[in-house]
Amino acid sequence: MKYLFSLILLFLFNLGNAQSVQSPSGKIDLNFKLAANGQPFYSVNYKNKAVVLESALGIKLKDKPALDANFEILTSKTSSFNESWKPVLGEQASIKNHYNELTVSLNNKETKVKMNIIFRVFDEGVAFRYDFPKQAELNYFIISDEVTQFNLTENNKVFWLPGDFDSNEYEYNETNFSEIDNTKINMNNGIGVKSIPGKFMVQTPLMMKAPSGLYLNIFEAAVVNYPVMHLNADVTNYKLKAELVPNAIGDKAYLQTPSVSPWRTVMISDDARDIVASKMILNLNEPSKLEDTSWIKPMKYVGIWWEMHVGKSTWDYAGSQNATNFADAPKASGKHGATTENTKRYIDFAAKNGFDGVLVEGWNVGWEDWNGNWKEEVFDFTTPYPDFDIAVLSAYAKEKNVKMIMHHETSGSVSNYERHLDRAFDLMKKYEYPAVKSGYVGKIIPRGEFHDGQSMVNHFNFVVKRAADYKIMINSHESSRPTGFGRTYPNYIAAEAARGNEFNAWSVGNPPAHETILPFTRQLGGPMDYTPGIFEIKMSYYDKNKTEQVHTTLAKQLALYVTMYSPLQMAADLLENYEKYPDAFQFIKDVEMDWDESKYLEAEPGDYVTVARKTKGKETWFLGAITDENARTSEIKVDFLTKGKKYKAIIYEDAKDADWKNNPIAYKIRTMTVTSKSKVKLNLAPGGGTAISFEPIK
Ligand code: NOJ
Ligand code: CA
Repeated sequence: MKYLFSLILLFLFNLGNAQSVQSPSGKIDLNFKLAANGQPFYSVNYKNKAVVLESALGIKLKDKPALDANFEILTSKTSSFNESWKPVLGEQASIKNHYNELTVSLNNKETKVKMNIIFRVFDEGVAFRYDFPKQAELNYFIISDEVTQFNLTENNKVFWLPGDFDSNEYEYNETNFSEIDNTKINMNNGIGVKSIPGKFMVQTPLMMKAPSGLYLNIFEAAVVNYPVMHLNADVTNYKLKAELVPNAIGDKAYLQTPSVSPWRTVMISDDARDIVASKMILNLNEPSKLEDTSWIKPMKYVGIWWEMHVGKSTWDYAGSQNATNFADAPKASGKHGATTENTKRYIDFAAKNGFDGVLVEGWNVGWEDWNGNWKEEVFDFTTPYPDFDIAVLSAYAKEKNVKMIMHHETSGSVSNYERHLDRAFDLMKKYEYPAVKSGYVGKIIPRGEFHDGQSMVNHFNFVVKRAADYKIMINSHESSRPTGFGRTYPNYIAAEAARGNEFNAWSVGNPPAHETILPFTRQLGGPMDYTPGIFEIKMSYYDKNKTEQVHTTLAKQLALYVTMYSPLQMAADLLENYEKYPDAFQFIKDVEMDWDESKYLEAEPGDYVTVARKTKGKETWFLGAITDENARTSEIKVDFLTKGKKYKAIIYEDAKDADWKNNPIAYKIRTMTVTSKSKVKLNLAPGGGTAISFEPIK
């Protein structure tokens, strides 16, 4: 790894109570000041226009004086940093990390407690964090509140999720800032867990568009040993304030010095593509702690999964009987999905079609008692059901050169999982499973912690670190949303942590705009295991009484493999559904997951995203274009292709009369010969998409 590294230090002493620092391009100014009462404030300008007005900074402590006033500046220093680093897997082979930094060291005149505030200004936004140095005056402390404000200037359009402390699996609400109101929305996220937020509490990443056309995004990076930050909106004055997720007894964070808060981030651009393409969140995380990363690989997988979500089979072995003694083999319900025979069918399919892995859910004892039963000793993660022969299956998979993906549903019983974790990972090593999908459905047992609180953040990060010791890759579901920790532990390969495709199987589903918002929100912190690739769109196919459906066309399901960056991609539908549409399935077989370059060609939150990506180490490109409920046409210059080369472009698109609701499966495939001078017309149906593969012609 090469560090291009330039560091200019400017030590400034006693320059008064105001400081400022600019982005490398000069477009963004960040200003810091101490008010007369010694309270810190910051403000941000973009192209000389105020974007964040003077906003308070500070931390409130339990049983100790607050760190939000009476400060004086001890020192202040600025520096520049310009580095490139190579992610193990990523949207691009090399990531530039270029910013100017301002560190203000503060001393509380009364308590003598010292606190630093560190600001970094990038070309696409600003970040700041609190730093608590080791000191006699502050050793162990409890945070009771974070004062941080984001005072905005106007009534922006906002893409918001209700500030539920336990779940991020909601549809986005698209309203004016003044209309944020949790009491007016459907809080049913379909999974039954919700810690009702305050009326005006919203989650981050919070994507916004100002009336002037400016794009803003408020988020955080490197959430480590700290709770998740939600935001409380003052809807009349366009102000936001940090709301840290509490623990079960109302405290926010337990810290010891030296320690730091996560980075608070505000991204700003007049071009929406800068936000989706930004690597600022990753850049704000620590470099990789893993020396050997050769075992971290992209994985395309199929699995025993969608068949449970559509009701064809079950996770549990014995149906509703409260069976516990599986050695005596209580009656199998006959609907169990994870059988040896069925798993072999998936392994055969994966081998035949070039997939890397097979996920099997419902393989282990415990599912009779999971979600909702409030049982602490629910799964042991090592005991297979009697009809799942783990030894035979791992040998069978190995012979076919397919990797098995483990599943650990915790049912929210987290201390139980930690107690079993090493034995669970040992079993995986024994049977050569390289990756695990973990799950945290339900209330956290036993103490009723929130999924987004400090102890759960620590749990999610701990599992990632421990898995790294075993060379295991992690894909967590129902965790707090990633904030770039995958840079530090690249075995954190993906997470769900937003409303995934599964909601389309059994709830009102995800509206067609959903996937055009995720790249501006959830995906800024790391890859999402969205599980695309559903071809049999309407659930009435399985049961004529069902009205649920996937809210996209089939072609859009293909495009999602490109627009939803993830090095872990599922072909989520039933195998038999792929066999019915082999020509469309070819795209899923062909599409890559790790890239040299990504070019966001068109992007508008809530409306559309078009991105082209070059395969890592190869000359092939893939393009994905998606739209919301509105049809869309555009003409794309394919000037990203290598000059002078000819490519065969295979275009998978919506048929003329396709429509997500009334005619979702209608697609067509055409082939063109193109060069870097060509243009390609895109025709997207309502809820539709286009997927293109480009292969050089020899
Ligand atoms: C919710 C997960 O998102 C889903 O993928 C999984 O199948 C179920 N929990 C059961 O673990
Ligand atoms: Ca989920």
